[in-house]
Amino acid sequence: MKDFYTGKVALVTGAATGMGHTTAIEFAKAGAKVVVADVVEDLGRKTAAEIVASGGDAIFVRTDVSDAASVGAMVDATLAKYGRLDAAFNNAGVIEPAVRLADLDEKDWDRVLGVNLKGVWLCMKYQLPVMVAQGSGAIVNTSSVCASRILPRTSAYTASKFGVVGLTRMAAVEYGGDGIRVNCILPGAVFTEMMKQAVADDPSRLERVKATRPLGKVADPIVIANACLWLCSDQAEHITGHALPVDGGYVAAA
Ligand SMILES: NC(=O)c1ccc[n+]([C@@H]2O[C@H](COP(=O)([O-])OP(=O)(O)OC[C@H]3O[C@@H](n4cnc5c(N)ncnc54)[C@H](O)[C@@H]3O)[C@@H](O)[C@H]2O)c1
Repeated sequence: MKDFYTGKVALVTGAATGMGHTTAIEFAKAGAKVVVADVVEDLGRKTAAEIVASGGDAIFVRTDVSDAASVGAMVDATLAKYGRLDAAFNNAGVIEPAVRLADLDEKDWDRVLGVNLKGVWLCMKYQLPVMVAQGSGAIVNTSSVCASRILPRTSAYTASKFGVVGLTRMAAVEYGGDGIRVNCILPGAVFTEMMKQAVADDPSRLERVKATRPLGKVADPIVIANACLWLCSDQAEHITGHALPVDGGYVAAA
């Protein structure tokens, strides 16, 4: 997608690590000016510095996506620096300890729903008016295969990721007339810190996950970056409200 994003501005949340980090780098390689947003400051700054060191343009904005004031400030900082917002990847996410539903702590429920679901809503709440004023924009939210297959011992996470699909469809319907497209990606087993934590909680998981993928492997974060850049590009101009699995063909519960 070289040069696809020249002159455009992309914002990525959860860009300190994992698929957010890779996607921020790929947006920059494709020519975008990139807003790197994350609650983790040192690694977030490192992502932005990596882009600048490669000749790109990026800023880091410390952001807690579960906090309205912080998300509002993230979008304000984007406009102050670059004056517009063309593509947003609302990707920050967390997962709870692997326990059955009744054993889940209320604080873990609130934390996971606060980041994964309220966070996506807040990001769109502040991004959409900017895109409406421009008359254009594309948003990709990160859901999960948990929104299409039930993965036991992830009740808060699963509820949040089903919610992301619903919010995505709602935003697509409500804002299509404003020239804005909104889609979500359902990643399945991408080898990032989150996946490493899930495997640490349940060591046999990796082999079980691989066994349920016809492609037989856990993915590199680049597969998510590629899907996100394509969905945000003009090549996907007639695609909105879509929930795209990027999961190696997941066929059964892992
Ligand atoms: N790795 C997988 O297999 C997988 C599968 C399905 C969905 N996902 C989803 O993909 C997204 C990215 O996850 P990842 O695998 O790259 O994991 P990751 O842990 O490497 O990245 C998540 C990022 O979100 C940031 N973050 C957490 N809370 C935040 C907050 N309140 N505000 C701002 N940033 C915050 C973290 O600091 C981190 O940089 C998440 O939404 C996750 O649920 C991952």
